Amino acid sequence: MRIDDAKLKALISGAKKAGLNAYAPYSSYEVGAAVMTDEGKIYLGCNVENASFGLSVCAERVAIQNAISNGERRITAVAVATRDKDMPKPCGACLQVIAEFADESALIVTISENGAYDVRTLADYLPRPFKLGVD
Ligand code: THU
Repeated sequence: MRIDDAKLKALISGAKKAGLNAYAPYSSYEVGAAVMTDEGKIYLGCNVENASFGLSVCAERVAIQNAISNGERRITAVAVATRDKDMPKPCGACLQVIAEFADESALIVTISENGAYDVRTLADYLPRPFKLGVD
């Protein structure tokens, strides 16, 4: 899947902006995510932690839930921004949720603290996602 520069920039700035709303008092690891739909719309999300740690939700899943609850069904790219000096990697749970709504060619864009970014496909991270045969 190809993405033009303007869309890539919009995704990256959306993910960074969403990270400003991160609620991460327990880990201090603030994450923002932006997902792009098949029609080029962007939905944002941030991580939302909880005192009962297991209830915390990653930014990617919040962004996807935002898109889906606004009626979207197909995702073509996901961007994840952190203030980590190392390049972040989406967690396995988020990859499985992305795979529910995206083809293996969907782009995963990760962004580190200094603005460096990395573009790979969903298949690079999760080549054989679990599926139940529902399209
Ligand atoms: N987190 C995300 O939001 N996305 C990821 O891909 C990995 C981890 C969040 C969850 C938790 O709030 C914090 O980062 C530390 O794990």
